[in-house]
Amino acid sequence: MSATAPRTGRTSPPGEISRPNPRPQAERFGDEYVAFCDGVRSLTQIDLGQYKRGQMERRIRTFAQRRGTPDLLAYLSALRSDRAELEGFLDRVTINVSQLWRNPEQWRVLEREVLPELIAAAPLRRMRAWSAGCSYGAEAYTLAALCRELDGGGRAEIVGTDIDRRMVERAERGRFSDEDARSASRELLERWFTREGEEWQARRELRSLVRFEVGDLLRMRPRRDAYDLVLCRNTVIYFTEEVRDALHERLVASLRPGGYLVIGSTERVSRPRELGLDATHPFTYRKSQ
Ligand SMILES: C[S@@+](CC[C@H](N)C(=O)[O-])C[C@H]1O[C@@H](n2cnc3c(N)ncnc32)[C@H](O)[C@@H]1O
Repeated sequence: MSATAPRTGRTSPPGEISRPNPRPQAERFGDEYVAFCDGVRSLTQIDLGQYKRGQMERRIRTFAQRRGTPDLLAYLSALRSDRAELEGFLDRVTINVSQLWRNPEQWRVLEREVLPELIAAAPLRRMRAWSAGCSYGAEAYTLAALCRELDGGGRAEIVGTDIDRRMVERAERGRFSDEDARSASRELLERWFTREGEEWQARRELRSLVRFEVGDLLRMRPRRDAYDLVLCRNTVIYFTEEVRDALHERLVASLRPGGYLVIGSTERVSRPRELGLDATHPFTYRKSQ
């Protein structure tokens, strides 16, 4: 809309119904949303301003409405004073869904092509991998199981990081439901996990390969050339394109030459060649030597 256009109505082309201009209301909501994001940032360190606004704002407004507090600033006060409410809110915004062997076709490529190459390339040192946005650890434990399959001695070192402390604590426990295990082969599941009650507990052999840390991908500055493999799947979908591209650049910088970046099966790297990446398999890139 031009700066001089009227704010309370617009001239419609013939045949189009004239509706009141929605902008003033959107602006009011916009300010409220920005103030809400500022409040959430000081409460949790999570910067919602870096996430795609339309999607995130809709999700938050719907959630606040369902909780009976449609006014976002009033809802912010509720989050400040009620720990349980804050937990529910974090579940809603961080979307922690994951599973063991999620997207099995990606794991097949890792098992048959990528990991053998990386393990062979690092005969005298540990292969280092990063599950960036690891949620409750399913991805890191799946990778650990494949490393054990391929290299029994376990020369891998896998770090999982997530912004959500509760997920990191869960990841450290290494316990998964049947639902989490629905894509896993029974044989591998029984080899690397033990049945405890209703859950699958990662065996010591896997746990010794993984560690977890709280970390915000948007603030972390990982060491250059630190990893042979970075998995960053199903995490950047909520970020704006600029934030996602800048993150991909930092992830690539953290890879050794010849290392691999694996992204989610609905995601893209904008300009892989400019980052020095070759696409080797679907959603899989190798950093130039
Ligand atoms: C859908 S899960 C993906 C888990 C796993 N990578 C997978 O594909 O199954 C997305 C995770 O990203 C985390 N996340 C969101 N924003 C983040 C950020 N800025 N820094 C680190 N983790 C973040 C969420 O807490 C959530 O656990």
